[in-house]
Amino acid sequence: MAPYAQYPSLKDKVVYLTGGATGIGACLVERFASQGCQVIFNDILDEQAHILCETMSSKGFIKPEFHAVDVTNVDLLKESIRRTHTQFDRIDILINNVSNDARHSPTEMSQAQWHSFMQVNLDASFFCCQEVIPIMQAQGGGSIVNMSSINVLIGPHNMASYAAAKAGINGMTKALANQYGVDKIRVNSILPGWVVTERQLNLWLTPEKEQEWQERVAIKGRLLPDDIANLTLFLASDDSKMITGQHMVIDAGRT
Ligand SMILES: NC(=O)c1ccc[n+]([C@@H]2O[C@H](COP(=O)([O-])OP(=O)(O)OC[C@H]3O[C@@H](n4cnc5c(N)ncnc54)[C@H](O)[C@@H]3O)[C@@H](O)[C@H]2O)c1
Repeated sequence: MAPYAQYPSLKDKVVYLTGGATGIGACLVERFASQGCQVIFNDILDEQAHILCETMSSKGFIKPEFHAVDVTNVDLLKESIRRTHTQFDRIDILINNVSNDARHSPTEMSQAQWHSFMQVNLDASFFCCQEVIPIMQAQGGGSIVNMSSINVLIGPHNMASYAAAKAGINGMTKALANQYGVDKIRVNSILPGWVVTERQLNLWLTPEKEQEWQERVAIKGRLLPDDIANLTLFLASDDSKMITGQHMVIDAGRT
């Protein structure tokens, strides 16, 4: 791992993260663990999640805990957060990372499909906040980071519901930041550009698309999960203690 910043304020913090088995989420699990955090994450990919936990433990980090939860089941999701609180007595940091970026034609999407996308891409983040905020209020504060996307700003084809959900994430971020700043709860969102993960390479990021992207960015080179993790750690740490209600773009200058 590159010699990234170490944040003293993150040591021993309890972090709850959604969708942590692969992609940016897995990188976040690793990077928070490397800060000395106890990470609890959920996902539907059991095998990848268990491998990640074992890998972190073998590297000498506090072993992350995995909860097998489909976030569209809000009862299970909330139960997972309550279990985390019971076990570790606090939740200092919430990272709402889960998403489904499957493409769809706006004119063909059924009502059921629209709702199922919203359940993953917006509802899960709201209900995690709903469960975590009283915990953070009682313990005297916390930091919430919500993963949004620059798709809110650029509006790509066949991603209307994804972009709508991410715009919702930004609105929710602002409203919760204003309401709960008084409790020392900070809420920020991150809008990444096109981040190169296995899934993106397998599904969407063809050589042609990548060339198109590179022609449009100011800083040439791939945006990687670690680049998103660097900003996430900063927003989770006390180094950003006066930053809240912000929507931070990290896209190599695409927008
Ligand atoms: N990769 C990018 O280019 C990019 C760009 C902008 C924003 N983002 C945002 O960053 C975040 C992470 O992106 P990513 O590319 O790593 O996503 P990803 O799709 O690769 O990973 C998401 C994780 O969530 C899990 N997941 C999906 N549905 C679930 C469900 N119902 N219940 C529980 N877990 C579930 C997946 O198994 C996976 O581990 C997302 O919020 C995404 O919208 C990513």
